[in-house]
Amino acid sequence: MNRKWWKEAVVYQIYPRSFNDSNGDGIGDLQGIIEKLDYLKWLGVDVIWLNPIYQSPNDDNGYDISDYYNIMNELGTMADFDELLEETHKRELNLVMDLVINHTSDEHDWFVESRSSRNNPKRDFYIWQKGKDGKEPNNWLSRFSGSAWEYDEKTGEYYLHLFSRKQPDLNWKNPEVKEEVFKMIDWWLKKGIDGFRMDVINFIGKADGLPDSKKTDSPEQYANQPLVHEVLQAMNREVLSNYDIMTVGETPFVTPEIGRLYVQEERQELDMIFHFEHVYLANFTGENFIKYKEIQKKWYDVIRKNGWNSQYLANHDQPRPVSKFGNDQKYRCESAKLLATMLMTLPGTPYIYQGEEIGMTNVKFSSIENYNDIWTVNKYKEEIAKGRDPEVVLNELQPLSRDNSRTPMQWNSNQNAGFTSGTPWLKVNPNYKKINVEKALLAQDSVLNYYKKMISFRKEHATLVYGSYQPLMEDDQQIYAYIRKSNNESLLVILNNSILEKEFDWNQLELKERDLLIANLPTANKDKGEKTILRPYEARIYSIF
Ligand code: GLC
Ligand code: CA
Repeated sequence: MNRKWWKEAVVYQIYPRSFNDSNGDGIGDLQGIIEKLDYLKWLGVDVIWLNPIYQSPNDDNGYDISDYYNIMNELGTMADFDELLEETHKRELNLVMDLVINHTSDEHDWFVESRSSRNNPKRDFYIWQKGKDGKEPNNWLSRFSGSAWEYDEKTGEYYLHLFSRKQPDLNWKNPEVKEEVFKMIDWWLKKGIDGFRMDVINFIGKADGLPDSKKTDSPEQYANQPLVHEVLQAMNREVLSNYDIMTVGETPFVTPEIGRLYVQEERQELDMIFHFEHVYLANFTGENFIKYKEIQKKWYDVIRKNGWNSQYLANHDQPRPVSKFGNDQKYRCESAKLLATMLMTLPGTPYIYQGEEIGMTNVKFSSIENYNDIWTVNKYKEEIAKGRDPEVVLNELQPLSRDNSRTPMQWNSNQNAGFTSGTPWLKVNPNYKKINVEKALLAQDSVLNYYKKMISFRKEHATLVYGSYQPLMEDDQQIYAYIRKSNNESLLVILNNSILEKEFDWNQLELKERDLLIANLPTANKDKGEKTILRPYEARIYSIF
């Protein structure tokens, strides 16, 4: 397997709005990130990925870009960015930016021109269509609810927006779009950034003739179209390959068979992708846990066949993993540490999302007014319009809302968790006095200190990066066990993801010897018997011989 720096790296994702506010306006900013670089260095991560920081009217918190060459006012200036990049590199950390090129903001100059008249030179930068019998051109739905088409009075045509109506889709069939975007990508790479996370990159090609979807909400007419591969290969050839960078594509609706096409080394498209198969599971219990293990096994195949993969449990679109996949009540610390053990030992590059390292949990705002996430707010309106009970709808949305992961980072027990001296743009999770970085730093056995330990454990064992992956007990609903193996060592990971105890039977392995290297619960290394009783949410890593 080819060695690459990004295969060995641990990535830390920052949602800049919610990370650290340096000037008291309630919004996290670039100077705020600079203040915390030493913390990230201490934690041991190698790469920082920033959610979009470009100029944006913030209809979707930066995923609606109005100027790719400028920094969002609230976040700082280009001088702040240059300083951030320099300070990051000074600490031997890498900086990866979000790249949103499926769509722009409707306030981007290109779109302002495009919508101004049917024969404007920028008209074809976007996807315009006449109506069909006085209705939308096809049945596609916006991922943020309603039709994906918006009628524009001025020119009497519809434009496509797979996300909000303020996020019109670019027309990637137009060579000028390609040229402009590639130029922009090159401009950022010349600045010295270390790579891109590409937003819904597998949506950029739309099926010829824009046919109806088979089911109104199915994505087959715009996900994984052949054009995506053409564009990515050209992008790689013409721009990316000139730099030593990493790329990771956000790709909803991919199976390993499809995913392989993006990441197989010889195809020269992307280094890795984020698939969604595991986050579509409602939890990690019972049958779902077995499915999760199957998903890991299937995706390992992609790595074996000359590709690579990412490992993540959280990001700015997902609920908090300890709430969804672990136990955010009695076993919060134990289960957060179990998830950390898993994240750092499965095959693929691990991604940590801000706050995950202290075991931050979901939040339950008591009113829809407190929610900001456009998906949550639109979904709420849509359900209420059907005549449903507002309280029931709110209860349903609480565990799903993207705001669960967007509440401000919890730094200490001071007002607003030390995130801001002003009023935070989104309310702080009320549990910040109990869960925060300052407190976690002081407690030897905190989730945070365990993350640090697991990150450095991964660094000490290249087997966890390049070693083979062999699952055990595949039908067990409680225990996830696997062996990572290289020429010089074999590591056995055993995870009991349950509130119940469970016995692990050593007879299945016929070992000469075993040596406990790390565990998430205090453990005397004396279990020499044939069976080990694992306590609730216990995680162990052994060296086996
Ligand atoms: C991706 C982003 C999400 C955003 C959407 C539209 O899924 O992760 O936050 O809303 O794309 O850009
Ligand atoms: Ca600020």
